[in-house]
Amino acid sequence: LARGVTEPDLKGRHVVVSAGGTREPLDPVRFLGNRSSGKQGYALARTAAARGARVTLVAANTTGLPDPAGVDVVQVGTAVQLREAVLKAAAEADAVVMAAAVADFRPATYAAGKIKKQDGQDPEPVVLIRNPDILAEISADRARPGQVIVGFAAETDDVLANGRKKLQRKGCDLLVVNEVGERKTFGSEQNEAVVLGADGTETPVPYGPKEALADMVWDLVAERLG
Ligand code: CTP
Ligand code: CA
Repeated sequence: LARGVTEPDLKGRHVVVSAGGTREPLDPVRFLGNRSSGKQGYALARTAAARGARVTLVAANTTGLPDPAGVDVVQVGTAVQLREAVLKAAAEADAVVMAAAVADFRPATYAAGKIKKQDGQDPEPVVLIRNPDILAEISADRARPGQVIVGFAAETDDVLANGRKKLQRKGCDLLVVNEVGERKTFGSEQNEAVVLGADGTETPVPYGPKEALADMVWDLVAERLG
């Protein structure tokens, strides 16, 4: 199996990539969000297109990143919207890669008008509720037999042990685990990771451009698509 070579090995395949980070609104001007830039997901979309795939990119709050050429981009804001768009696109996909940072919780209520301070009063606590787990859902209920599903996990401690547990919990085929650090991951052009397979494989990807990690993910996906 040739690795790291750009050949149209994904020609005739449809892949779905989610990218960016969801924002969960509190009121018309405020949200709960995260630091995901969307760069890793965009690199995945670009490299899949370069390898001949039809690509649907579900992009959450990635303004500033140019739409990759030849890729269908669906813009979403919240986790609930991301779920809807991913489920729709996954229905006819050979592979789904969840690179988006999905908010685990959202505010239980949305204030239709801007929340205002009241003189001399403490703020109301923000009550949160769980968001749906999209990766677990699409892994448990595959839209197509043989569909390959990939998750991402950024961890700060016990990276590999936590990654293994997460892979099992999610039920996906591959989990790209990276350690959150100074130069890595959020907003960076570089990344370093280990790709864990449900079949027990462990593929280290050295520190390098997000494209290189993306190509390794597609190598592993292509092997599993057969
Ligand atoms: N994910 C998802 N839906 C969610 C949360 C996460 O689909 N509601 C996906 C992410 O896109 C990612 C993977 O699950 O591909 C792992 O995300 P992560 O936040 O590491 O997993 P969690 O199960 O939320 O675990 P943690 O409590 O560590 O945040
Ligand atoms: Ca999470």
